[in-house]
Order: sequence, then C-alpha cells, then structure tokens
Amino acid sequence: MKAVFLGPPGAGKGTVAAQAKDYFKVPHISTGDLFRYNIKNETELGKQVKSILASGGLVPDSVTIAMVKERIAEPDCKDGFILDGFPRTIPQAEALEEMTELDHVLNLVISNEEVVQRLSGRRMCPSTGRIYHVLFNPPKVEGKDDETGEDLIQRDDDKEEAIKHRLEVYNAQTEPLIDFYRKKNLIRDVKTSNNMKPDEVFACVVKALS
Ligand code: AP5
Ligand code: MG
Repeated sequence: MKAVFLGPPGAGKGTVAAQAKDYFKVPHISTGDLFRYNIKNETELGKQVKSILASGGLVPDSVTIAMVKERIAEPDCKDGFILDGFPRTIPQAEALEEMTELDHVLNLVISNEEVVQRLSGRRMCPSTGRIYHVLFNPPKVEGKDDETGEDLIQRDDDKEEAIKHRLEVYNAQTEPLIDFYRKKNLIRDVKTSNNMKPDEVFACVVKALS
C-alpha cells in the first residue's frame, strides 16, 4: 500500500501512522521526524533546517523532495509506505507523481481549536519519536516514555507563535492538495475530534484505506 497521510499540524498523522505501519506492514516515513533526527544529530542537513522547523515554516521543496526520493528508493519501501507530512506543496505532489503511483491519500479532518489543544499538550520521546498528550494520551508515568523511561520533551514548534504560523502555512500551501488529490479520486476523508480515542480514529482509518 502506498499512502499519503494529509492533515493540518496536530491532526494525528503521526499517532495514526504509528499503528497503521504495523497493520499494513509498510514503513512510516515522516519528513518532520527525518528533519528532527538530522537536527538532533547535528548533520549538515540538520544545521540547514533547524531554524526553519523551530519557526514553523517549510523547508525548501528541493531539499525535501531529494530527501524523500532517496528514502522511498530504499528496499523496505518496495511493497509500499506511509508518507506522513509529505507532500506539503503542489510542487512536492507533482514531484511525487514522477517517483511513484499512490493508492490512497488519507485526509484527517479536525477543527483549528482542537489542533491548538492537541499541540499545546503534546509530549514526545526524543529518541524514539513516540507521541503522547498530557490529557488525551498520557504516558504511564508522568513525563517519562512508556518503554525507554526517558524524559519526554516538548517540540520547539509547539510554542504558541510557531503553532499559529504552522496553521497559516498549512492553509496557504498544503490545503490546496486536498483538491489536487480529490480530482484524482485518491482522497479518503476521516473526521477526528478530541472526543475520539486514538484507537477509534485508527479503526476509521483502516476502514477508509481497505
Ligand atoms: P511535522 O513533524 O510533519 O509536523 P506537522 O505536520 O505540523 O504535524 P505534527 O507532527 O505536529 O502533527 P501530527 O498530525 O503528526 O499529530 P500527532 O500524531 O503528533 O513537520 C514539522 C516541520 O518539519 C514542518 O513545520 C516543516 O518545517 C518541516 N517539514 C516537514 N515536512 C515537510 C515538507 N514536506 N516540506 C517542507 N517542510 C517540511 O498528534 C498531535 C497531538 O494530538 C499529540 O499530542 C497526540 O497525542 C494527540 N492526539 C492524537 N490523536 C488524538 C486523538 N484521537 N484524540 C486526542 N488527542 C490525540
Ligand atoms: Mg507528526
């Protein structure tokens, strides 16, 4: 299965993809996680994109496209993949069309108010990227990762100003992709809200993609 997970910041792309990758037995490729990995390890790419991520802006298309092209050419992607956070612009979507043919584009739908609640309470394990929420999806022990016991962190771009900017960037540059893919009959809409547990959202996603 070759799928793209689309949706505003905080829609739950990463949370759903963590379950879907095991269910569909394909790798989960999050461009945000790839950039954060490079930042953490202070690679050249990491140094180049650090301030862009912190502000909530977009990394240039040329850089992002080259990174994804290389990643999906790896052997573990031969039977499919879940792309989370890519494409995010029309030029990225056009470049992806030249690389491969998609089966589904999941569109996670959520209100702006709920996005802000989600992002301001999100916590993350710095080494595994596992995602929590202080209220909606808390770890077993407050502030610690369930498996590694590491201290959880808050992402730099989950501060109020950056959240606002990310939503503006989403509306201007990424939302037009819904139409782009709807015309190609690839969009599968799934409505989510903070009243739905991640497992309930996942069940809807499986139904939409099966
Ligand atoms: P990226 O990491 O992709 O960030 P994003 O799109 O803003 O999305 P998030 O990861 O914030 O949200 P999510 O939808 O994964 O939600 P999550 O599951 O965590 O990108 C970061 C940055 O990298 C970009 O700003 C940009 O700079 C750069 N970048 C990445 N890709 C790029 C590209 N293609 N081109 C250019 N630049 C790029 O859930 C959020 C919270 O909600 C969590 O706390 C979770 O526990 C909670 N939650 C999840 N599900 C539920 C539920 N059902 N009920 C209640 N709470 C829930
Ligand atoms: Mg994510």
